[in-house]
Amino acid sequence: MKFKMAYSFLNADLDLIEQELEKTVSSTEPLLSEAGLHLLQAGGKRIRPVFVLLSAMFGEYDIEKVKKVAIALEIIHMASLVHDDVIDDAELRRGKPTIKAKWDNRIAMYTGDYLFARSLEIMTSLENIAAHQILSKTIVEVSLGEIEQIKDKYDFDQNLRVYLRRIKRKTALLIAASCQLGAIAGGVPESIHKKLFLFGYYVGMSFQITDDILDFTSTEEELGKPVGGDLLQGNITLPVLFAMENSELKNKISKVASDTDETEMAEIIDAILSTNAIERSIQVSDMYLQKGFSILNQLPKNRARSALSNIAKYIGKRKF
Ligand code: IPE
Ligand code: IPE
Ligand code: MG
Ligand code: MG
Ligand code: MG
Repeated sequence: MKFKMAYSFLNADLDLIEQELEKTVSSTEPLLSEAGLHLLQAGGKRIRPVFVLLSAMFGEYDIEKVKKVAIALEIIHMASLVHDDVIDDAELRRGKPTIKAKWDNRIAMYTGDYLFARSLEIMTSLENIAAHQILSKTIVEVSLGEIEQIKDKYDFDQNLRVYLRRIKRKTALLIAASCQLGAIAGGVPESIHKKLFLFGYYVGMSFQITDDILDFTSTEEELGKPVGGDLLQGNITLPVLFAMENSELKNKISKVASDTDETEMAEIIDAILSTNAIERSIQVSDMYLQKGFSILNQLPKNRARSALSNIAKYIGKRKF
């Protein structure tokens, strides 16, 4: 994966984090270990730990301290994926069967809870109340985002604002928190860690918009997770919102329900793809990235800043 080149100077530290992630996910209860390690060893981009480490580099970089935060953030992300796959009824994650598919929903529920709790345990090594407040608030927001999505399913009259608030909660804030908490672990001044938070927020918005675009344009092989399911499951994403500006198409799309058959679904997706909905979604994603770049420009110039900038560029073009 080319984008790893953007931060190859972190390789040794990321290897260390990988080893510790395994230890952290392991449990004396074999079932929890097996399920957690199953997801961990399936891979993943580890983008949140990378943001943690790079943000810490704006201060005093001490890997012993910052690795705890990096591990905690990746494990919270994993927990949210385990629960998300229950909500989205997904069979595949990182190219492997999901925990809910390989075991069942009950095991997934407790594996997710276990991972959340482990991440909090790891964080206790950080003696900074603000950091714990940021983290707990973020987890609350992720839960709100996921529950909002359930509530808003098949609501074809929801507007752009509702969509943006949902993706902020379910995705962007965790990436923002990764940047801010990394910076706090590095002891950077508040003026800088607030900017890193904002950078993470903008990049996180772009990241989820891209994820929502890829659900229409990518393949299961490329992503290692099912595609094309968002609309069928009633998850109204940005491309759908744009496509629905055409009232004829909105009529068609509004008829989608969980039992819509494959042929009809394929027809509707083709109709969406034949509009400029994807192009306009890419524009919104780019708009957020640009905001991210302008924040970066206000930060001290260093190796971490260039790496963050390159990562943001890749996020705009990502196909994985
Ligand atoms: C998937 O996150 C869920 C979203 C927030 C879009 P990632 O795309 O970071 O998933 P992994 O960790 O690389 O598998
Ligand atoms: C990701 O949303 C949000 C969280 C994991 C909290 P998606 O449902 O779009 O993520 P994928 O596509 O399953 O990775
Ligand atoms: Mg989901
Ligand atoms: Mg999902
Ligand atoms: Mg998705």
